[in-house]
Amino acid sequence: MKVLVVGGGGREHALVWKLRQSPRVNKIFCAPGNAGIARLASCVEVKAEDIGGLLSFARREKIDLTIVGPEAPLVAGIVDAFERAGLAVFGPSAEAAAIEGSKVRAKELMARYNIPTADFAVFDRPGEAKEYVLKRGAPVVVKADGLAAGKGVKVCATTDGALAAITEIMEKKIFGRAGERVVIEECLAGEEVSILAFADGETVLPMPAAQDHKQVYDNDQGPNTGGMGAYAPAPVCTPRVAEEALQKILIPLVKGLADEGCPYRGVLYAGLMVTQEGPKVLEFNARFGDPEAQPLLVLLRTDLVDVCEAVLAGRLAAQNICWAEGAAVCVVLASGGYPGSYAKGKVIKGLENVPDDILVFHAGTALVDGQTVTAGGRVLGVTAAAKGIREAIIRAYEGVREISFEGMHYRRDIGQKALKYEKGFLRQGVEN
Ligand code: AMP
Ligand code: GLY
Repeated sequence: MKVLVVGGGGREHALVWKLRQSPRVNKIFCAPGNAGIARLASCVEVKAEDIGGLLSFARREKIDLTIVGPEAPLVAGIVDAFERAGLAVFGPSAEAAAIEGSKVRAKELMARYNIPTADFAVFDRPGEAKEYVLKRGAPVVVKADGLAAGKGVKVCATTDGALAAITEIMEKKIFGRAGERVVIEECLAGEEVSILAFADGETVLPMPAAQDHKQVYDNDQGPNTGGMGAYAPAPVCTPRVAEEALQKILIPLVKGLADEGCPYRGVLYAGLMVTQEGPKVLEFNARFGDPEAQPLLVLLRTDLVDVCEAVLAGRLAAQNICWAEGAAVCVVLASGGYPGSYAKGKVIKGLENVPDDILVFHAGTALVDGQTVTAGGRVLGVTAAAKGIREAIIRAYEGVREISFEGMHYRRDIGQKALKYEKGFLRQGVEN
């Protein structure tokens, strides 16, 4: 069959890499792709947001299955458009993807179905939002309602910081219309974990828990990024946390949406804080996380096409999904300056020296005059799997060591949080 992957980051490279292993797939296209994807698939010069362009391409090429990576086209209705045209497409409808596209919508759903999350209030006037912050005090979290490329959340340690965030989002409109409304919420304490699951409108099958590293510097310092690295499985998600997340969060959300006539099909991503009172939702995403997709797809044993088809046909309940034992780690190599401004066009050296069993997924890369150069903030995701997390970390950094480009920055502590759960550390605290 012919498959089209929409997007051009590390997540999409990992999707294409996984699809290449399927005996059922004989042709893969990726729109727009990147320099790494171009070695495995035919890259198509259509932007991920250009739904009309993607639709005519899929029709012309008679694509059998389209898998959508990023949130923007999902929220804009790519799945609805493809379905209307009779094309098989993996991902939620626009209405279902609004769990990511509108934080107000997500909060309202959580309130309606008693899903544990931070206490919150919604404002569409800056004056009232500021009054609330003054009354409530800090720390507090200010979130733009709409999509803001992962930058719309400000965790504010002080009242002044929160007032400034409201001014920027609602008055200076730094995220445009995405900031017309804000959610102001309680600041939760604990360790974060990402639980991704396949959902077919009814059945929810969680993947191994993953952990992202959002801040740009080691020890979670500095501004938030799209994610500087990830690993799975994440031991902070004990069997008890996993069961609670499934029963109190994922199942009630999918069931609630189904009851409202808005079945959720695709990957459902719950970003959780594991608090003293159990897991609470920080955010929902309507897709695979990036970089989380990279270690997860490396661990997935089942054919991805089989899983996608089971989701589309509503037969997940009968689908077995197998995961490798052991762990996988992805270390992101970023351009110096990211998540702020950064240079592009730097030649990437040493890719050929990376051992074969270490995967280098490309994100912001391009091929210029036969050379692979940087073309984005997150450039590469160096990903390795091993028997355990400790070995996987060592292997991933062995790959990192071979690669260089001017200004290259990466975190040196990806996966370290998992190690504290190993024998002798904090054992009783997390397993009860
Ligand atoms: P989001 O895009 O909603 O995941 O938010 C980005 C990051 O902000 C999260 O990964 C958390 O680190 C942080 N965050 C969001 N909401 C809260 C909250 N209520 N309490 C503490 N941290 C939060
Ligand atoms: N890594 C976080 C995300 O994909 O939203």
